Amino acid sequence: MILVTGATGTVGRQVVTQLSELGALVRAVTRDPRSAGLPACVEAVRADLADPAPLEPHLAAVDSALLVWPFTAPGLAVGPGARLVEVLARHVSRIVYLSAEAAAGRPDSFWAAMERLIEASEVRWTFLRPTGFAANTLMWADQIRGQGVVRWPYGAAARSLIHERDIAAVAVAALTDERHAGQKYLLTGPEVITQAEQVGVIGDVVGRAMRWEELAPEEARRQLLAAWGDPAFVDSALTTWAGLVTHPEPVTGTVREITGTPARAFRQWAADHADDFRLA
Ligand SMILES: NC(=O)c1ccc[n+]([C@@H]2O[C@H](COP(=O)([O-])OP(=O)(O)OC[C@H]3O[C@@H](n4cnc5c(N)ncnc54)[C@H](OP(=O)(O)O)[C@@H]3O)[C@@H](O)[C@H]2O)c1
Repeated sequence: MILVTGATGTVGRQVVTQLSELGALVRAVTRDPRSAGLPACVEAVRADLADPAPLEPHLAAVDSALLVWPFTAPGLAVGPGARLVEVLARHVSRIVYLSAEAAAGRPDSFWAAMERLIEASEVRWTFLRPTGFAANTLMWADQIRGQGVVRWPYGAAARSLIHERDIAAVAVAALTDERHAGQKYLLTGPEVITQAEQVGVIGDVVGRAMRWEELAPEEARRQLLAAWGDPAFVDSALTTWAGLVTHPEPVTGTVREITGTPARAFRQWAADHADDFRLA
């Protein structure tokens, strides 16, 4: 039995699908099983990761678990995060944690805090450290469907965006194969592509001309605060994008090394999600 947290999210849903296709037994965690839209072959259980006690009865017979920590505040990783890791470590033999590339260089981040908690436990672990998700570009979908103009800061910020299917494929390998224990995998797409270029690719794929319009960082901060709430997270995103203008994200071959298939390019991701950017 494999437990998948974040099972309705970008990566978790793909992990559930790929494990089900392999015929694995999957128990999927969601706060609302009725609206989760998970495959019928999957056992969906209700739990809130902020309070792991109700999750404990669902850990019987679970061998490995994908951990998606949905909170961004580093402080939360200390209390509820520690309790969750402790509960998981009592029952499962392996945790595959969806961390981030940033965990390596930012010991103050919640990703690094969660990694430290897991490392300090008795459980075997694998850390997935992806760079930016290609799915982040869905945050521009309204602007693209509207006027076809994306107003956003740092058009020259360059990322090695990764397809969620590729992260999920590595997660499935780590959840099902002991040989990935103790590994910290830096997972990336196959190329570096700037934010302004990403908009151009989406335009190509949907067959409409798109334009990037540079937004001043102060204006972006105001808009993101209204959308995301957490000022520390907004500032950290803006600082990250600013840094990516001069220091693009790295590119690795880890997806291919682990899955045997090269990581999908951003153009492929955009084609897979073209309907999200098309006018109805
Ligand atoms: N976006 C990036 O570029 C990037 C890069 C590196 C790492 N990451 C990391 O990836 C993780 C997010 O993965 P994702 O994008 O696949 O997720 P996502 O699409 O944001 O979905 C969030 C998931 O978390 C679940 N969730 C939210 N609050 C919960 C709670 N209180 N209790 C239980 N479950 C809860 C949701 O399930 P229900 O709503 O069904 O309960 C949903 O399945 C984060 O840790 C993020 O930092 C992201």
